[in-house]
Formats: sequence, structure tokens, C-alpha cells
Amino acid sequence: MTSQTYLSELFSLDGRVAVVTGGSSGIGRAIAGALARAGASVVVIARREAELVRTVDELTADGCRAAWVSADLATSEGVRAAGEEAAAVFGEPDVLVNSAGVNLRPPMGELDEEVWDTTMTVNLKAPYLLGRRFGPGMAERGFGRIIHITSQQAHRAFVQSGAYGVSKGGLESLARSQAEAWSPYGVTCNTLVPGFVMTPLNVRLSQDPEKVAALAARTMTGRNGLPEDFAGAAVFLASRASAYVTGQSVFVDGGFSVH
Ligand SMILES: NC(=O)c1ccc[n+]([C@@H]2O[C@H](COP(=O)([O-])OP(=O)(O)OC[C@H]3O[C@@H](n4cnc5c(N)ncnc54)[C@H](OP(=O)(O)O)[C@@H]3O)[C@@H](O)[C@H]2O)c1
Repeated sequence: MTSQTYLSELFSLDGRVAVVTGGSSGIGRAIAGALARAGASVVVIARREAELVRTVDELTADGCRAAWVSADLATSEGVRAAGEEAAAVFGEPDVLVNSAGVNLRPPMGELDEEVWDTTMTVNLKAPYLLGRRFGPGMAERGFGRIIHITSQQAHRAFVQSGAYGVSKGGLESLARSQAEAWSPYGVTCNTLVPGFVMTPLNVRLSQDPEKVAALAARTMTGRNGLPEDFAGAAVFLASRASAYVTGQSVFVDGGFSVH
């Protein structure tokens, strides 16, 4: 057996269908690219069409199968429509990645219900609704992979975690509940936990060189994260290789959380 055949048996996503929310930017975009290059047909979901088109064009130019669905995951109707439209492109997905997220962090005393509701809907309710839409089918077919992107704030409060931290804590619990429900049927459910990654999500913080350097110093690797850092972990969690890994929080943070 060649090493290529061996690696392919473990990690290839040939023939798989993946749906990646937030797949047009940052971490989600890097994960969508990794899954597509590993062989999956990928549907990316977000609101802005220009970014979606740019992502899909780049992947198809690379010989990948990719498509996009524009939807607003801040409403239940938007999530439901997104789920149906995404499944109509390449068929029911084998892999669901929930990377779409909002990072609204007013001081706790000023956190109004609108911020709370938007945060909870995009960051937590959308993953729940998409899980309910796709999870039972994955279980029936005997294979599925659900991957959520959470945050350090799921584990500790800092820099005004507010509703964001609550949503990410809930998302880790959701992964465990989904894992309990569907792992017996071949559907694993896990989370990837980033440290600080310079993406459009935290553009304000990224413009403060002192804070950026301080965050890098808190890691063990001495640098902040890059979207590409999530490629390998995402392919692993989406592949056959991770069949016995479920309900876990996998930290991709350069050691930030243990330093
Ligand atoms: N960057 C970090 O340091 C960091 C750290 C910890 C956790 N995370 C988590 O990692 C995930 C990805 O973040 P990122 O840094 O890659 O952010 P990003 O570059 O801003 O990407 C966010 C994505 O979510 C989509 N999105 C946001 N609101 C949406 C809505 N209402 N409906 C549909 N799509 C929506 C965005 O597209 P549209 O705006 O076009 O809709 C975009 O594709 C998030 O869940 C975030 O909480 C990031």
C-alpha cells in the first residue's frame, strides 16, 4: 500500500457533501477550502453574495465542487430556508460545519435584548436548527460529522464575554447533546476552539498592535492564529479517521488556553 492510499483511506472526503455556514470568510472560508480540496462537494452559506461568489470561484478554479447559498441565519426562517437550499445543491450533507458567528460585545450592563437575541440566534439557534435538519438523516445513513466553531469564551470570561460567551458555552453543550443522540449511529459531533485569529470578525481589536502582540504572547507558539490553522483539524473531524472522537472540544489555539 502506498502512503497516498493509506492517507486517502483515513482522510479523503471524496464523495462527501459538506455544508459550511460562514464559509465565505475567515475560519469558515479556510475550512470550506480544506474540505473541498480533500474531496468534498461544499456548499457555503452566508449573507453577502460578493464574498460567497469569490470563495466559490476560487474553489472551482482549483478543480473543486463548490456552490453558495445566501441566507440570513439571524432568523429561524432564514436558517430553515438555508438548510433546504443547501441540501438541494449536491444532496443531503454528510458534514455540517457551523462557523457563522457574530461578535457583539457591549458591556454587560448595556447588553440589550436585541444584541442578546441576534447573538443567540446566529451563534447557537442556527447550529441547533441545522443540526435538527441534517442530524437525523446522517444518523439514518450511518455516517455524519457535525463541527461547531466555539471560542475561548466558552471556557472562561474575559474581554467582555457577555452574550457571546454564553452562546459559545451553549454551543459546546449542544455538541455534547448531539453527540449523545447521534454518535451511536455514526454521527460524531465536536467543536473546534480557536484562540485569537485575525479575521473580519475582530477587525477593531486587530488594529491595536499592542493588544495583538499581548494576545500572541499568551500563546505557547508565540503567534496568533491563522484561518489556515483550522484546515487539518477540520479535515480530520470530517473524515473517517475521527470515528471515535465525539462530544469533544478540540483547541486549535497555539496553547493559548493552557498557558
Ligand atoms: N477570529 C477569532 O479570533 C475567533 C475566535 C474565537 C471564535 N471564533 C469563531 O469562529 C467563527 C468564524 O469567525 P471568523 O473569525 O472566521 O469571522 P468572519 O471572518 O467575520 O466570518 C464570519 C462569517 O459568518 C457569516 N455570518 C455572520 N452573520 C451571519 C448571518 N446573520 N447569517 C449568515 N451568515 C452570517 C459571515 O458572512 P456575512 O457577513 O456575509 O453574512 C462570514 O462568512 C465564529 O463563530 C466566531 O465566533 C473566531
